[in-house]
Amino acid sequence: MKLLFVGDIVGRPGRAAVRECLPQYRGQVDLVVANGENAAGGTGITFEIADEIWGMGVDVITMGNHVWDKKEVFEFIDDSDRIVRPLNYPRNPPGHGLCTVLGSGGTMVTVMNACGRVFNPVLLDDPFQVLDKALESLAAKTRVIILDFHGEATSEKVAMGHYLDGRLSAIIGTHTHVQTNDAVVLPKGTGYITDAGMTGPYDSVIGMKKDLIVSRFLNQMPSRFEAAGGPWQFNAVLMEIDPLSGRCLSINNISQRQNA
Ligand SMILES: [Fe+2]
Ligand SMILES: [Fe+2]
Repeated sequence: MKLLFVGDIVGRPGRAAVRECLPQYRGQVDLVVANGENAAGGTGITFEIADEIWGMGVDVITMGNHVWDKKEVFEFIDDSDRIVRPLNYPRNPPGHGLCTVLGSGGTMVTVMNACGRVFNPVLLDDPFQVLDKALESLAAKTRVIILDFHGEATSEKVAMGHYLDGRLSAIIGTHTHVQTNDAVVLPKGTGYITDAGMTGPYDSVIGMKKDLIVSRFLNQMPSRFEAAGGPWQFNAVLMEIDPLSGRCLSINNISQRQNA
């Protein structure tokens, strides 16, 4: 079976990129997962925007550290089984840390989301322990399991790849918004990439208006995050997975840019 993972959708340009690029893959893949933590104006998500993303052919939306940024998320995150927030938030907040859905070819797929802890200002539970436990309880239920591991530090993401190798189908890194060139099938059959990259405006600082972010570095003053405009890039990862064993057979990064 084939699966497409779309990197963090940032604001309006990110949604335009999905609308433009997804149709060429949708027919060839069994399931599409996209990270939507930056989909609403650069931070967070609302029901209207989630619905727009599902409507464009995304089956499951994953989130990250920006999950709670739009208060409207609380209106629907508990009720929907097509959006997952990081599993390792303490004390079981609203929403679900994983979901299991049926791919178009008839294979059940579990999608999980977890956040790294290195350089994350929020004190989350240990993702290694939390994922150990979750994978143990999934072992008898689903073979095909995809994890969006949302982290700042490359080393933590690479370490997670090796720690979980052989226990799930693929680990897709997100959050740093720049696609890495290290897609690989690890020795025990788990597909891995450190970062899928973001789907959003490329004339920006990782999707945000560049002047605001540059001045933040110059002045050391807080400034708001605002999604940039302009031409988009579409960053994704295409995987082929054996539905019987759950092993990843191939993993390749995809990157497309709109002509300016
Ligand atoms: Fe992001
Ligand atoms: Fe993030």
